[in-house]
Amino acid sequence: MSNNRVSRRQFLSYTLTGVGGFMAAGMLMPMLRFAIDPLLQKHDGGNFIKTEHKIADITDKPIKVDLKFEQVDAWYKSEVTNVAWVYKDGDQIIALSPVCKHLGCMVGWEQDSGHPNQFFCPCHAGRYEKNGKNVPGTPPTGPLDEYEVKEEDGYLSLGPTKANTLV
Ligand code: FES
Repeated sequence: MSNNRVSRRQFLSYTLTGVGGFMAAGMLMPMLRFAIDPLLQKHDGGNFIKTEHKIADITDKPIKVDLKFEQVDAWYKSEVTNVAWVYKDGDQIIALSPVCKHLGCMVGWEQDSGHPNQFFCPCHAGRYEKNGKNVPGTPPTGPLDEYEVKEEDGYLSLGPTKANTLV
């Protein structure tokens, strides 16, 4: 007769451990799913946000475009407004981020009367050319970022920012 027989006590112990583990998994899975639920939600519209600006109305003069979207931070929803400076260069739509590459202030178009046709950062007098290139000798060390751009039903849609491709 084999000495490897499972005793009644061992059998009971294995069975209870198995059943206990199964029940624990059944309780933990819904809790885990609930905890990561915001991460699993699908967001409508992909990464692009439609603006209120018609492509046809955009000219070669940069205009400030508001970019409104709902941000979900775990369970907290808030409406966020970002800004882009948008203009046409021939047929190409250019959308630049207003965030200064020095310390992150907001740049404005032609806000320094001494330097027309440039973006100006009021915090430390940083300057950029129209295509976002930082003017040497001013504090910013790199060009303004660019938004991804696309047309949707004749309206401008803006996507994520990327490194400037114009400079
Ligand atoms: S933050 Fe723009 S120049 Fe300093």
